[in-house]
Amino acid sequence: MAMAASSSSCFLHHLLFPLQPHLSRNSIFAPPLRFSSAVRATATATATVTSTSSLTLQEDVTKTLEAADLFCCPICYQPLIRKGPPGLNLRAIYRSGFKCDKCDRSYSSKDNFLDLTLISGLKDYVEVKPASTELFRSPFVSFLYERGWRQNFNRSGFPGADEEFKMAQEYFKPVEGGLLLDVSCGSGLFTRKFAKSGTYSAVIALDFSENMLRQSYDFIKLDDAILTSNLALVRADVSRLPFSSGSVDAVHAGAALHCWPSPSNAIAEISRVLRSGGVFVGTTFLRYTSSTPWVARALRQRILQNYNYLTDEEIEDVCTSCGLTNYSRKVQQSFIMFSAQKP
Ligand SMILES: C[S@@+](CC[C@H](N)C(=O)[O-])C[C@H]1O[C@@H](n2cnc3c(N)ncnc32)[C@H](O)[C@@H]1O
Repeated sequence: MAMAASSSSCFLHHLLFPLQPHLSRNSIFAPPLRFSSAVRATATATATVTSTSSLTLQEDVTKTLEAADLFCCPICYQPLIRKGPPGLNLRAIYRSGFKCDKCDRSYSSKDNFLDLTLISGLKDYVEVKPASTELFRSPFVSFLYERGWRQNFNRSGFPGADEEFKMAQEYFKPVEGGLLLDVSCGSGLFTRKFAKSGTYSAVIALDFSENMLRQSYDFIKLDDAILTSNLALVRADVSRLPFSSGSVDAVHAGAALHCWPSPSNAIAEISRVLRSGGVFVGTTFLRYTSSTPWVARALRQRILQNYNYLTDEEIEDVCTSCGLTNYSRKVQQSFIMFSAQKP
């Protein structure tokens, strides 16, 4: 059964991305928006198992979180007013209402995720995003994603979820105990690992796809420890992150940059929401590496033009131009994991 799902997803992936395999083989706020004692308690509990230096950091992080109003309106970036039980967890958010007083706009949390897209609740207007975003909105792709689709990335050099998680955790060491945002979380493969690790005071999983978020919830509810942790599911566009500036400690974006309509808009937003010292870690498929023959480069450039497969130099360039520093990376075939920091 699992084999059948895996091979059918591979087939579909080849069909949709014929060239890819050849590339080388809780509210956090109590009303009014403040981090709840639940989140603060978690941060303190985590602190007991971390080093002295991260203890100091966590105290700072806790203060930052208490001072910041995290969720904000995607139209005007004003903090949202929340009515309902406090806590950055799925149950509390589900039972809360969110509103921007300035824009007189309400945002729904009635689908196990909080919808903070600009198109949330619109009746007549339908917006079609580029194919690389729309593809993942399908219930079929969302269902198949962890049932063979994601595993297929290993053929292009991705080391696999467990190893990628370990590598990301290394990069995130300076921000242990902070708030982690898993941008373009898909079906929550890494969200669940981050939440279960106990390394962070809270984890927010964000995606534009309603069906990926529903699939995330279906996986999350299978594990009580994750279900009851400080974890929120948010629907949003990476190019318009509904969080206050400087409110996030860590941003993870696994296998996502090539799917974003505008990597520069997305990285500018990631840079805006990161606090000073905050860390961004992303993975993606490279368009080509220094060892790719020139003929193959030209061919790939032409065929992959509908997707934002960048080069290492381009990723560094856009990170730097968006105000991030300390760029570093690990490359294996077409796989790259890169990291950059908010000064
Ligand atoms: C290949 S999946 C990656 C999932 C997961 N992070 C992983 O490492 O496997 C790419 C994800 O990017 C999301 N995505 C595409 N465009 C987006 C956008 N404009 N804003 C937010 N997420 C987007 C898709 O919905 C999809 O879930």
